[in-house]
Amino acid sequence: MRIWMLIISGMSIMVFGILFPRPQSAPRQIPSSSTVEVSTLLSGLDVPWDLCWGPDNQIWYTEQAGKISRLDPGTGKSELLVHIPDVLRLTTPGLMSLAFHPDFKRQPYLFTNYTYRKDSLTIATKLVRYTYSKGKLSAPVILLEIPGHKGHNGSRIVISPDHKIMYATGDAVTITNAQSLASLNGKVLRLNLDGTVPADNPIKGSAVWSWGHRNIQGLVYSPKGILFSSEHGDATDDELNKILPGNNYGWPKVEGYCDQPREKQCCDSARITPPLMAWTPTIAPAGIAFYGSHAIPEWQGCLLMTTLKEADLRVLKPDEKGDKIISERIYLDQQYGRLRDVCVSPTGDVYVSTSNRDWNPGKGFPTQGDDRILRIRRKNGGIKLADLSGPVASARPAHEPAGKALYHQYCSSCHKEDGKGVAGVFPSLAGSPHVKGDKPVLLRIILGGISPAKQNASGKYDQQMPAFLFLKDEDIADIATYIRAGFENDSERVMPREVSKARQDPGK
Ligand code: HEC
Repeated sequence: MRIWMLIISGMSIMVFGILFPRPQSAPRQIPSSSTVEVSTLLSGLDVPWDLCWGPDNQIWYTEQAGKISRLDPGTGKSELLVHIPDVLRLTTPGLMSLAFHPDFKRQPYLFTNYTYRKDSLTIATKLVRYTYSKGKLSAPVILLEIPGHKGHNGSRIVISPDHKIMYATGDAVTITNAQSLASLNGKVLRLNLDGTVPADNPIKGSAVWSWGHRNIQGLVYSPKGILFSSEHGDATDDELNKILPGNNYGWPKVEGYCDQPREKQCCDSARITPPLMAWTPTIAPAGIAFYGSHAIPEWQGCLLMTTLKEADLRVLKPDEKGDKIISERIYLDQQYGRLRDVCVSPTGDVYVSTSNRDWNPGKGFPTQGDDRILRIRRKNGGIKLADLSGPVASARPAHEPAGKALYHQYCSSCHKEDGKGVAGVFPSLAGSPHVKGDKPVLLRIILGGISPAKQNASGKYDQQMPAFLFLKDEDIADIATYIRAGFENDSERVMPREVSKARQDPGK
């Protein structure tokens, strides 16, 4: 009797599903009944860049300035394994990713990569193999060296199910790199474990596996062997991609989806793989991990992705084949500052690292105790998963000037909320002659950005100013008016028609 009822009700659900299929784009409602605990496992760190669950059930992690350590999640004790002396650490360069040899017990190798100063003018990135023995990492062997830069060095390393090194590199701020198959920058590379090029790579004799990448910050395999990446866009279009061999992901010709007229032309003439998801305004995605455990059922089968700019943990549900993202949820919103990486233990505990000592001082960060490694684990009677989000950043009082919200969305991650920037990294807009002075000069900076080619040779700043050509005249006028009126600049407002004029006349 019971069984019959179940079968009948099961059938009616099926019929219901066929007659009223769920709309494709609507996020699926997942019950949010799990309760969890969030705690700080370790603090006082300096940008823990990569968290990697080890074959010894400990968390091996890098810190940007050059340390690799090992953390016992049971005791919270951390032990230093090596301090690499020649790491060049600037705002974003430094020691980055980490991956274990797939047969670590017999071949105790660890792969890592970092930027270093080759000579007074040149920065390079090395992919290095260390050997582990008795609590120490030693005997570095360089497997690959590629050009580096003050920005866009990527990167992540993961080992593929067929035991190759997959190494995601940044475009090193050289606009031609990502589309050039002769360059190893702006790529996902595939190497044998000894650093040689596999015979079955898509391009004979080349390490290139996929191209058209700007600055990949996260890379992970799902248990089904699908490779996902997270990637930083320029002023628009951060991306989540499914990485396939021999595919072109578009940068710098196509940003995000193929939706601008210029991009459509390019997509017609070349095969460009669109992202699974793109974010504008940008969120600065970082490390990604796959959650396969039953411990937090709402997250099972999802990608966990940390973000730097938006300072949150996103839970993205891919479909069966990893061809689209069917839901996105946001947790830990702006509670711990920028989040850099995430890893998952076999029992489904989640570890997240903060990144408040690199890019930011600002918005109250770094706080005392930064940077930290946090743990989120299932706990009966803990916080409801649904309550694990903070205040929504976009909820702003209505009386604020229009330009303030836009400035917050597009400019404040670099120039800071108070316009004062960060010395040596982002110029102050307060009292800047470029802001107070000639309006066309200011508008050309905002519209066109300041590319490395336009920077003076001394390279005063570590970072570039992106172009905001994609914003509407009204929005740029509002932003320009806001920064001219405020930040002690006291200058006249900017009208949309002045923006339109600056667009037509790019000047010299
Ligand atoms: C990704 C970081 C970043 C973002 C986002 C950004 N800028 Fe910049 N901006 C820079 C950097 C770096 C420079 C200095 C470039 C140089 O001179 O080489 C700069 C320079 C400028 C200058 C020239 C300042 C001077 O005194 O020379 C202005 C004006 C400016 N930015 C306005 C803006 C506005 C308005 C926005 C938002 C619409 C914005 N920026 C967004 C990084 C950024």
